[in-house]
Amino acid sequence: MRKSRFLRLLAVVLAFSMITAACGGDEDTTDTTAAADDTTATTSAPDGDMMDTVEVFSWWTGGGEAAGLDAMIEVFATTDPDIEFENSAVAGGAGTNARAVLASRLQANDPPDSWQGHAGQELIGTYVAADQIEPLNFLYDEMGWLDVMPETLIPLISDGGNIYSVPVNIHRANVLWTNPTVLADNGIDVPETLDDFFAAMDTLQAAGMDAPLAMGEQWTALHLLETIMLSSMGADGWSGLWDGTVSWDSAEVTKALEDFAKALTYVNADASALSWQDAGQLVLDGDSAFNIMGDWAEGFYRELEMEPNVDFGWAPVPGTSGLFQFLSDSFVLAKNAPHRDAAIAWLKVAGSLEGQDAFNPVKGSIPARSDGDRGLYGEYLLSAMDDWASDTVVGSLTHGVVANDSWKSEIDSAMGIFLIDGDVAAFQAALVAAQVASG
Ligand code: GAL
Repeated sequence: MRKSRFLRLLAVVLAFSMITAACGGDEDTTDTTAAADDTTATTSAPDGDMMDTVEVFSWWTGGGEAAGLDAMIEVFATTDPDIEFENSAVAGGAGTNARAVLASRLQANDPPDSWQGHAGQELIGTYVAADQIEPLNFLYDEMGWLDVMPETLIPLISDGGNIYSVPVNIHRANVLWTNPTVLADNGIDVPETLDDFFAAMDTLQAAGMDAPLAMGEQWTALHLLETIMLSSMGADGWSGLWDGTVSWDSAEVTKALEDFAKALTYVNADASALSWQDAGQLVLDGDSAFNIMGDWAEGFYRELEMEPNVDFGWAPVPGTSGLFQFLSDSFVLAKNAPHRDAAIAWLKVAGSLEGQDAFNPVKGSIPARSDGDRGLYGEYLLSAMDDWASDTVVGSLTHGVVANDSWKSEIDSAMGIFLIDGDVAAFQAALVAAQVASG
């Protein structure tokens, strides 16, 4: 192993262990990174040339997430058999750990060739702002992607006429996952409004269920917050918070935060120790009736061979019917990528119909491309495709669409304090300050 590479790997491993130690979480115990295997760089291709490699960084390591990535890697192995895929995925839902590792690598001028980034402000307000990724207009021209990628998405991955990433999917954040048996046994209809939702959970608690709403570690609380705020404030109210037309100081924000505080009263006491998969499992096991999570939960349930509408059900988060709170995973090309040509080959697969139709049916997302083969997708994903086509689309905070990293991290800090003290007025004041500091 070359010395510089060894030092880099050591730095990554140390950074990762520091982060996991600091988080104290037991998330995704699945293999975290294939980066430790350095044999790829020296392997010979069948024609005798040195084998090329591409290092791809993500946080898809298990619990329904790795399977999707693996399916796309399989396609890559057929289109580019001479390029070794170096999987540098780092475990942890929503990229909480991975993005910290990535940030330290970028700071050390040691980028992976390509990494997972969310369309929206995470991309534009973070990586583009820091001049860390290359524009990909040449690839869009060559591959004709402007004809197949949704018009709503292109502005979110563009800046100054340049397009900066290749979206592989569309995920929906505002999904309520249910245990149909628990609901039926308690005579509860799937709630359509926040009031119905709270009433249903009162009924369940009265029947002896401690925590009708399953939740996990802090980012899943942020995820819950954004969906409850959308429910409480509506699409214009939510989107207005990010374009400056709605004040963080307003009464409607106060009401939304009170709704969120009420939702938290139904949550499991051990939330901070659980991954999103653990929280989803509580619903499958009937320990909870509901979980609010993005539709990667469908990929998790699929991997567990759960039957849709029998073992689990779904609906828009109460009060958000007709609204699609979206996010999109996309892959970027690092500036000064160590293996630029190989990275471009990977991006071509990420943007291809074949790649997307292999990845998404397993991942629990719908293709970013508009020409996906519906015959390959399960019942939930078909409903998501229909909703994506007809609903009002708004962006996710937790998953990078509406705020850049610095704003989001201010909000996250405020959330951390709120989860301890439950003080709505102080929380709102901190959110106002976060907007002033970063908005
Ligand atoms: C999101 C990401 C999804 C899924 C989820 C849970 O941020 O966009 O693809 O991985 O985190 O880890």
